[in-house]
Amino acid sequence: MKRLNHGCTTIYHAKDDSGLMSDPNKSSGGKALITILVQPSRLLRQMRILQIGFLVALASGLSAILIYINGVTNFVGIQRLSSEEVEALQSLQASFKKCVSTSFVATCYMMQSANGLGLQAFSGNDYCMVTINFPSNTDSKWKDPKTGAPEGLSFEFDLCEAVATWEQVRNSTTILTKDFIDALPNGWEDYAWRRINKGIQLNRCQNKTLCMEKLRLVLPETPPYVPKEFGRCAVIGNSGDLLKTRFGKEIDGYDVVIRENGAPIQNYTEYVGRKSTFRLLNRGSAKALDKVAELDESRKEVLIVKTTIHDIMNQMIKEVPIRNAVYLMLGASFGSAAKGTGLKALEFALSMCESVDMYGFTVDPGYKEWTRYFSESRKGHTPLHGRAYYQMMECLGLIKIHSPMRADPNRVLKWVPSQSTIIAARTASEKLLRRVGAGSIDPLRACEIKKQVRRRPSAVPSPRKAAIDHQKFVKGTTLYPLEHNPGHGMLCTVPMG
Ligand SMILES: *[C@@H]1O[C@H](CO)[C@@H](O)[C@H](O)[C@H]1NC(C)=O
Ligand SMILES: *[C@@H]1O[C@H](CO)[C@@H](O)[C@H](O)[C@H]1NC(C)=O
Ligand SMILES: *[C@@H]1O[C@H](CO)[C@@H](O)[C@H](O)[C@H]1NC(C)=O
Repeated sequence: MKRLNHGCTTIYHAKDDSGLMSDPNKSSGGKALITILVQPSRLLRQMRILQIGFLVALASGLSAILIYINGVTNFVGIQRLSSEEVEALQSLQASFKKCVSTSFVATCYMMQSANGLGLQAFSGNDYCMVTINFPSNTDSKWKDPKTGAPEGLSFEFDLCEAVATWEQVRNSTTILTKDFIDALPNGWEDYAWRRINKGIQLNRCQNKTLCMEKLRLVLPETPPYVPKEFGRCAVIGNSGDLLKTRFGKEIDGYDVVIRENGAPIQNYTEYVGRKSTFRLLNRGSAKALDKVAELDESRKEVLIVKTTIHDIMNQMIKEVPIRNAVYLMLGASFGSAAKGTGLKALEFALSMCESVDMYGFTVDPGYKEWTRYFSESRKGHTPLHGRAYYQMMECLGLIKIHSPMRADPNRVLKWVPSQSTIIAARTASEKLLRRVGAGSIDPLRACEIKKQVRRRPSAVPSPRKAAIDHQKFVKGTTLYPLEHNPGHGMLCTVPMG
């Protein structure tokens, strides 16, 4: 249905006939029905048709009802929205689809010029859902180690969920602090032990002194970074594609560079740059903290551990000694759509940077194999899913992707939804998803738990105007994500007085 809108249908089908490409928008009969039911442009029309649809579904038996309910997960929510809000979601989705697939409107053979490099986005079952498809001639190289099945070429994402959650990240603190644990109800008994390796043996930190001792070396009193503290940040992944372009100088031009795990710098500076401000570590890398600390010659890199503090790490920090600051990350949860170190690094970057660019994360069309730019095991990757998710983030205006095929540093992102569209869609999404504080304009609306704390008046360590303005906006409050909280409520520590 959707493909009728752009001028490439015939050519696409011609290729299809030759067997090179298959229909990228295959949908089951049930899905097609839902699409017809939920896509009309006007709210009232939509509701009427939905009601009729529901009656039809009732009349045609249980299976129809199941298909119906399955297809309109957000329908009940959409009823809660005003027509302006529904339009905001529609407008986000329309702009988003253009942003991903724009080249198909211009010319079918110039895929390379698109943001999505041949990816196409289609509307899903409602105003929130989109499907991002790779061209059907994409050779899926990564295989699930358990099932041996190659990775699929089609991925579904919820734009409402993404826009509501990622915008919240920009105002959050993503480093675990003592301030957070103290303010969390039963923070020490219920939470602190979870951030300690084998914490289960600590009997919920019955001996708080012992718990504190274990966490002390990685637990700052208050957040070491505030939102918008840094200007331009680059997050560097470990993809072998990095060796195709000499991005080194460009990367060194950023205010902050964030790397991952055991990614080396020495011998690769031409491609990955020299600068390294932060390094995000998974469990395996964190256990080799001494080796990791050697990767950055300046020895000033700040190490952020995604998981738990381990006795081995404490020992190394004290005895080696490791002088780098080491912190634990406190992250929001994005569900199964977004796991892995790459996403966590973007989350960390977005929580303190004005703009975030990414290098070395993606596969361009025609990728041969998912490799690292240095040698290390390469299990546990879903490169196409990751690529599609990052494309979604780019077309929500959160990040900019650089890769061999998008090597021009001045590349302009076309069709990214405007700031006003994003703000309107975020507000609508918060309501739709019943997020804590939805519908309010209070900057602290999402604060589910509020604690007053004594704090030095000027907690902003940076002279950046954007950071200071933001602190004024939130009245000096620190907003922490509450992990696994379905309403995405936050824990807020409010300065006293
Ligand atoms: C985050 O803070 C900015 C001001 O710096 C504000 O405009 C924006 O609405 C806030 N976002 C959320 C999700 O609260
Ligand atoms: C609690 O832990 C501290 C530090 O390890 C230890 O010195 C103290 O004896 C412990 N207290 C109890 C009651 O076990
Ligand atoms: C860089 O190359 C030199 C010489 O081959 C080697 O000794 C060194 O270990 C390399 N460094 C890294 C981080 O791979």
